[in-house]
Amino acid sequence: TGFITLDPGFKNTGATTSAITYLDGEEGILRYRGYPIEELAEKSTFLEVAYLLIYGELPTQAEFTDFQNKVSRHTLIHEDMKKFFEGFPTKSHPMGQLSALVGALSAFYPESLNPDASEEEDNLTIIKLLAKFPTIVSWIYKKSLGHPVIYPKNKLDYVSNYLNMTFGQLTEEVEIDPIVTSAMNKLLILHADHEQNCSTSTVRIVGSSNANLFTSISAGISALWGPLHGGANQAVIEMLERIKEDGGDSEKWLAKAKDKNDPFRLMGFGHRVYKNFDPRAKIIKKACDDILDSLGVQDPVLNIAKKLEETALSDPYFVDRKLYPNVDFYSGIIYRALGFPTDMFTVLFALGRLPGWIAQWKEMRTNKEPIGRPRQVYTGHPKRNFVAMKDR
Ligand code: CMC
Repeated sequence: TGFITLDPGFKNTGATTSAITYLDGEEGILRYRGYPIEELAEKSTFLEVAYLLIYGELPTQAEFTDFQNKVSRHTLIHEDMKKFFEGFPTKSHPMGQLSALVGALSAFYPESLNPDASEEEDNLTIIKLLAKFPTIVSWIYKKSLGHPVIYPKNKLDYVSNYLNMTFGQLTEEVEIDPIVTSAMNKLLILHADHEQNCSTSTVRIVGSSNANLFTSISAGISALWGPLHGGANQAVIEMLERIKEDGGDSEKWLAKAKDKNDPFRLMGFGHRVYKNFDPRAKIIKKACDDILDSLGVQDPVLNIAKKLEETALSDPYFVDRKLYPNVDFYSGIIYRALGFPTDMFTVLFALGRLPGWIAQWKEMRTNKEPIGRPRQVYTGHPKRNFVAMKDR
């Protein structure tokens, strides 16, 4: 069977070539299709970045208008899917609902199952997924409140439509503060792709069996849910709350994080690839200050977060291991200021990551990559004979 190289966690194994995202963890550089994340976060919109990731270039005005029109045409959810959706217990975790609902789209759009679909047919499936995802996400939120769902308004742009379905009311027009729309665009752009992380690798590996787009993305959502990955944004706020209730002593909690006999980790700190700083965290920290200021929100956990960061960054444990705040350290504080409940944070990460997952799935399919199938080194028993139950 040949020689097998072991690399638990794939720390040094490249699984693919990719032309989508460039990441230099030593220098703290992140670019989508060559464009620095800092510029995109400042100057672009989320839907434009989605186009860039999926199709490889920034759109012209005509291309963008066409794309936006196509996406707007598919924002409705099949009414039968609502019955399935209504069956979830009100308090079930939004991520469990999201992965189930996105997987269920394959039942409603069976044409997506064809692995030999033309590029045009695949593109329609991509548009449908991009269009329906915000509707699903906002409906999950409305259900958690016991409120009626809001149907999409296709005259609104992508992010405004999502916010309207989330914060709008069936009974009256609600104006969404432009600060909120701009903050959402920025956060979603910063989450839009991150090369071969756990959920993206999952999407590619599931898709490599020729599984359809909806199922592949549903698997990615499940991978994202874990607290070591996208679930960290929920875990950070829960941690900061616990520290606050415990009296706000950052030194005490950092000591716990350093103690190898204590399972506690400083959530929102450390990254597999960034060993300098996470460029997304830098932008988010600044955005967090600006947004809380503009909205006039004061959140006591922000001070705890800042104190933790400052203390950790001068502590040899964190310095030696090159542990820096990551994208999730401050994002939850912004989501909270915008009015989202904690258990929606990872769903927002998924909404942001969607174009990246789609782009990676499409690239894998276009490149006709072989099925993903890692090997192992067997450590079990050598051959032994079956023992009858009475003799065991
Ligand atoms: N708190 C305390 N110690 C830590 C932490 C932390 N947050 N992160 C890493 N370490 C220590 C770890 O114990 C190990 O120490 P030692 O060498 O003494 O055994 C060393 O640093 C290396 O850590 P590792 O677990 O081998 O590194 P990894 O690359 O396998 O894990 C990570 C990366 C992100 C899973 C990890 O840093 C972590 O658990 N962080 C907290 C969870 C988190 O914030 N995740 C979000 C990641 S960014 C969003 C996304 O894209 O998913």
